[in-house]
Amino acid sequence: MKKPIIAGNWKMNKTNADTKALITELIPLVKDAECEVVCCVPFTDIVTARKAARGTNIKIGAQNVHWAEKGAFTGEISAEMLKELKVTYVITGHSERRQYFAETDETVNKRTKAALAAGLKVIVCVGETLAERESNKTAEVVTRQTIGALADISKQDLKRIVIAYEPVWAIGTGRTATAQDANDTIKIIRRVVRKLYGRASANSLRIQYGGSMNPKNAAELMAMPQIDGGLIGGASLKAEDFAKVVNYNK
Ligand code: PGA
Repeated sequence: MKKPIIAGNWKMNKTNADTKALITELIPLVKDAECEVVCCVPFTDIVTARKAARGTNIKIGAQNVHWAEKGAFTGEISAEMLKELKVTYVITGHSERRQYFAETDETVNKRTKAALAAGLKVIVCVGETLAERESNKTAEVVTRQTIGALADISKQDLKRIVIAYEPVWAIGTGRTATAQDANDTIKIIRRVVRKLYGRASANSLRIQYGGSMNPKNAAELMAMPQIDGGLIGGASLKAEDFAKVVNYNK
């Protein structure tokens, strides 16, 4: 049985003081969760988040990682640096990175491989824009992004990957994909993975939905057979809301 994974993506929100307060509030609310619980926090909050979450079922993740081991890359953070802080997960390929920071399928792949090489688990994001959806390119885009992100990654390493399907038009907009649409696109992604790695690997891969997932729609989305979790932006910034998503089945 796959354990569902609900991960918060805090994006560029929360100071250290906020982080301590939010994690502390969250701990009792999610302690009996049946899914894996992750908070992907800004780099500067990692130490505080780890400390606050120590000994609990909340794992801490980062939101990006550079592919080089070290060197002249002003403003970047390496996988070793994250590993030293005992981060469990790191997000790669988020659409905001693709859109505002010129991420490509190739850089997403490089970042993912560097994180895997350091022993981290990776949440790799894929998803189409509104224009791509409206011109019926969803399947083509998620196929290209999935193949690109997974290039040269072994079957063994795939076990430490989670894919997040996040239609760009649903992120932060309050517009959720219908549960059926999300399920259908995730099925396409899983089929791509099956072609690359075989049925068993594809079936055990966890694929999340992300994009305006919240306490109201989480249960319906999570009930879909292809959806194994959620990547939660806005609704992860308040303990009560995030806990409701985490406890979608209660
Ligand atoms: P949202 O963000 O839940 O605020 O739509 C999701 C994400 O970008 O990961």
